Amino acid sequence: MTLQNKLGITDSAELARAEEKISKKKAAEMFEDGFFDELEAGTFDALSQIHYRLFSEVYDFAGVIRDVNIAKGNFRFAPVMYLKPAIDNIEKMPQGTFDEIVEKYVEMNIAHPFREGNGRSMRIWLDLMLKRSLGKVIDWSRVDKDDYLLAMERSPIKDIEIKHLLKNALTDKINDRETFMKSIDHSYYYEGYSVYKTAEL
Ligand SMILES: Nc1ncnc2c1ncn2[C@@H]1O[C@H](COP(=O)(O)OP(=O)(O)O)[C@@H](O)[C@H]1O
Ligand SMILES: [Mg+2]
Repeated sequence: MTLQNKLGITDSAELARAEEKISKKKAAEMFEDGFFDELEAGTFDALSQIHYRLFSEVYDFAGVIRDVNIAKGNFRFAPVMYLKPAIDNIEKMPQGTFDEIVEKYVEMNIAHPFREGNGRSMRIWLDLMLKRSLGKVIDWSRVDKDDYLLAMERSPIKDIEIKHLLKNALTDKINDRETFMKSIDHSYYYEGYSVYKTAEL
């Protein structure tokens, strides 16, 4: 089952390749053209604009809160019925220190607002908070992908591992294009979501 897309692609692997190529091009463009200057770090509006910019050529749902319940592995992300209030509360979380920023990132990951592309859009969103509050970003080339995924899977229970991983990869190269582009790279394109139903209200 391939996600419905604007490219008319019906094969998952082909969609993954096309999506990767387009989102990388879009990321490079947003880095160049001052897109971030207009964004307020830590807001859902910023995240939604990042998601829209990355995926508007691929998905109708770019920048739009999902309307299905999703799970990955055995973790269920926020059910649709709690999603909007969760996002409103997450926006209000502080973002003045490294720990606060990662805690906010972890909560937004638990919300998982979009049908696809949460990882990529949220890493850019995370970097924007780190950049504005601390003058630093993550050098994703120094974060092992498997360690990262394990730490993210663990993060709803305990955030110490993801904090440790990310803290060790902080850099002050905030205007380096290659460093920025690495955040997009950190994806596992093969893993999709399972969609589950809850009782109708
Ligand atoms: N079981 C899980 N529990 C919590 N977070 C997870 C889990 N699996 C993946 N993640 C997070 O979700 C991200 C993947 O989300 P996804 O919507 O597929 O985005 P993308 O397509 O950009 O990778 C991962 O990068 C990780 O941060
Ligand atoms: Mg994905």
